[in-house]
Amino acid sequence: MPTTRDRAGRLTLGGVALADLARDPAIGTPTYVYDLDAIGAEARELRAAFDGAPHVVAYAVKANTAGPIVRALAAEGCGADVVSGAELLVALACGVAPDHIVYSGVAKTDDELTRAIAVGQRGIGAIQIESVEEIARVDARARAAGRTARVSMRINPSVAIDTMDTHAHIATGHDEAKFGVPRADVAAAVALAQRSAHVELVGFGAHVGSQITTTDAYAESARAVFAIARELRASGVSLAFVDAGGGFGIDYGDGCPARPGDFVRVARAEQRAAGIDDLALYVEPGRSLVAAHGVLLASVVQPKIAADRRWLMIDAGMNDLIRPALYQARHRIVPLELDARDADNAEWRVVGPVCESSDDFGVHALSAKPPRDVAILDAGAYGFTMASQYNGRALPVELFLRGGAIASRTERASAEAWARSRSFG
Ligand code: LLP
Repeated sequence: MPTTRDRAGRLTLGGVALADLARDPAIGTPTYVYDLDAIGAEARELRAAFDGAPHVVAYAVKANTAGPIVRALAAEGCGADVVSGAELLVALACGVAPDHIVYSGVAKTDDELTRAIAVGQRGIGAIQIESVEEIARVDARARAAGRTARVSMRINPSVAIDTMDTHAHIATGHDEAKFGVPRADVAAAVALAQRSAHVELVGFGAHVGSQITTTDAYAESARAVFAIARELRASGVSLAFVDAGGGFGIDYGDGCPARPGDFVRVARAEQRAAGIDDLALYVEPGRSLVAAHGVLLASVVQPKIAADRRWLMIDAGMNDLIRPALYQARHRIVPLELDARDADNAEWRVVGPVCESSDDFGVHALSAKPPRDVAILDAGAYGFTMASQYNGRALPVELFLRGGAIASRTERASAEAWARSRSFG
């Protein structure tokens, strides 16, 4: 359940009044608050869409790497899609089964490949090969470790960018994208993988882009991948899985026709049509598991009214949540308390403290008398993980709720600590 209002008009998440957290001097703002119960329920709902068919929900850890969240998803039986050696270590430390970890990324270093190959008895579930050139590198690292590395081939499905209903920065399955083995190179890549003594090809996958709100491009991409998998099996190669990728959109306020389970259902339909529905189906959702179950709390610092312009300055900025600045993304902003006396609405341009004009969360209707504090909604994915300390600002606090109480939280670094860390030399 995302945020709701209690009878007193206070915004709540996971049964906790958010104003109580924001105004607690030990917590303060800016603070990310997450509902672990709702994140677990989101994973259960998605897994149910597979109807008992063999599958792995490989949570794209990049969306939110916080231990309590990765642990909650691992406890629901999720695997992980990681994109760095460090994310791999987080997934392992949080109890994700190594067999259910896939590792994507176009420029994995030798050290990162070695780490992935060294995990457990057989290495992780699959290193996702993103280019022909990477195959020889994986083979060499596996040979050096005296092992065979399981790999899956991430294919660039060549889905035209203008058919994607998402921002160009996060469309990844078109010809200009650096991701995946181009379809024209798949045959050569498969042949090379088969000649490589320390590489075992176990799957095929694709990831067409992120925040996609209808299933068409996802189905098109899955169809391309599954056709390749079917052909290869027909030639006698045994595979373990196909991976349809992540990218399931959420409703940031403008609607999202497709629910996460719909992407699973269209991928399964394509799998059946290709006659490969005995293979496990992997999906790699990040955002849809966590975004709606996290908010960023901010305090209003002051208004600024000049001529007919009205700005509301808050203490969270683009360093805490960069999505509006980077992708012109809109996140709803709502007051932590509704006060009947403040019934007059006004349009405010909500901005942060960072010295850039792009530090701008857009125009929002809030009370004419500025609220004391606000929540930026749907901030659970690609919020904290993309945060920085730009302008000498401490990273925001992260606070995790379970069963209507605080399960854990991080501490805010002081200005002194930041200044000490930078005044070296
Ligand atoms: N698998 C691969 C290979 C990916 O590259 C990604 C995301 C995912 C899975 C998960 O996609 P999701 O289900 O979360 O959409 N920072 C951007 C999103 C970047 C996504 C990058 N890749 C944003 O804030 O919208």
